[in-house]
Amino acid sequence: MAEEGDRRALALLYAAVAEERDGIAAEPPVDLGRREARTDLERTLVAVSGDDIVGFLSVVESPFGYGELGMMVAREWRGRGVGSALLAAAVDWARGRNLHKLALSVFPHNEAAMRSIARSGSSRRDGGSGTCAARAASSGI
Ligand SMILES: CC(C)(COP(=O)(O)OP(=O)(O)OC[C@H]1O[C@@H](n2cnc3c(N)ncnc32)[C@H](O)[C@@H]1OP(=O)(O)O)[C@@H](O)C(=O)NCCC(=O)NCCS
Repeated sequence: MAEEGDRRALALLYAAVAEERDGIAAEPPVDLGRREARTDLERTLVAVSGDDIVGFLSVVESPFGYGELGMMVAREWRGRGVGSALLAAAVDWARGRNLHKLALSVFPHNEAAMRSIARSGSSRRDGGSGTCAARAASSGI
């Protein structure tokens, strides 16, 4: 899980991905201070290489018992399994929280995100809104 000292690095990664204007819905410029303050460390999983955060996944828990995901990997680390590892960890984490489903909303062109979902042993459903629902086949998540 993320720690207090991770707030700045998480905000900077979020801002860098927002600058790409491609994968996530957030638009630059990102207010780093606000982003740091709003990060829910207890619901953020981080991927690290040495001291560097190379990716993270955050979960918003719905009152209806499922988790809404956001995830991103630093551009230079993509395509090396980091996103898939974060999703696998999120499924384990969600089981422990009794969340019955994880959902990741993506743009329809976001093949990497949809493939990550498909790879996580989950069902994938593409709707008009470009929403994928992840459900672990054997566990009820
Ligand atoms: C989506 C994202 C998190 C995936 O992370 P990643 O570490 O690159 O993913 P992985 O290396 O685990 O690859 C997962 C799958 O996507 C595929 N993939 C990776 N990059 C791809 C690309 N550019 N185009 C098509 N498929 C791609 C991989 O081949 C793999 O599929 P496979 O197992 O069937 O071969 C990353 O691309 C990212 O941060 N994108 C910008 C932010 C974003 O779009 N977030 C999701 C919406 S919140």
